[in-house]
Amino acid sequence: TQPSILVARAVFPETLELLSQHFEVDSNQADTVFSKAELIARLQGKWGAFTTGSERIDAEVLAACPDLKMVANMAVGYNNFDVPAMTARRVVATNTPDVLTETTADFGFALLMATARRVTESEHYLRAGQWKKWSYDMFAGAEVHGSRLGILGMGRIGQGIARRGAHGFGMDVVYHNRSRLAPDLEAACKARYVSKEELLRTADHLVLVLPYSAESHHAIGAKELDQMKPTATLVNIARGGIVDDAALARALREKKIAAAGLDVFEGEPKVHPDLLAVPNVVLTPHIASATIPTRKAMARLAADNLVAFHQQGRPLNPLNPEVLA
Ligand code: GLV
Ligand code: GLV
Repeated sequence: TQPSILVARAVFPETLELLSQHFEVDSNQADTVFSKAELIARLQGKWGAFTTGSERIDAEVLAACPDLKMVANMAVGYNNFDVPAMTARRVVATNTPDVLTETTADFGFALLMATARRVTESEHYLRAGQWKKWSYDMFAGAEVHGSRLGILGMGRIGQGIARRGAHGFGMDVVYHNRSRLAPDLEAACKARYVSKEELLRTADHLVLVLPYSAESHHAIGAKELDQMKPTATLVNIARGGIVDDAALARALREKKIAAAGLDVFEGEPKVHPDLLAVPNVVLTPHIASATIPTRKAMARLAADNLVAFHQQGRPLNPLNPEVLA
């Protein structure tokens, strides 16, 4: 008999079809967001799970589901997984890197442009019927081409944004990361390594693309916002919690920085009410990887990870390969 899996959220019908060739599939096409108790109830007795960023796989869930062998996340980020707890229980964890890199970098740039050039703020003004006449400084924004692009977190997506800035917009690209890129990778995206302090102090546009962890929690708070230029824009396409949203709303209100573009939020899908109350912020509902081809590729890769582990004992994108040893 085939092992059983839970597909925890709605997915493409073709993904379910593929999975059904290999597994007994318990799906959730109604797309209910499970409470922890509901998740445990649905996961008990299952061999594997296909999750999105919204299911938290922690020690409590793992203890209640001793049959679980693998969880495949349809996301590159995996802060919804307690990986050490999964490793301790010998549960394989996988994510979906690479297939979303360029699409997500495109969106990072879209948010940077929209924020710097006040695209949504000016559209709201127009739609509200407030446009009565042209004026010389109406919605004057910040220059993008030729300015300094700062990137915090220089993984694959960060490098994609750097390439777009350097080659497409003639930007001076600086970055900070836990470790420095190899010289050939730095050369490919024309990026220069600087300290976090120099990054904050000198960037005209700062894009956050680092993974969320205890270490990166509130990496941008009141103190960091104070160090930024009053003309700077801040873009977060990484994870909620990397920015202190209350401190950011205050900085935007007090014009400590010019503007922000946010695709991710602390406690999303809730958004801090103070952010909703300031005009100089562009807000999107966690859609940086959202194109149909990319979402299909992510779903396919998450499914392929489950199939590969089932068939060959080795998934394609293991996050805790020590479990396989
Ligand atoms: C989306 O946020 C992802 O991590 O893939
Ligand atoms: C994260 O995995 C990235 O590709 O930046």
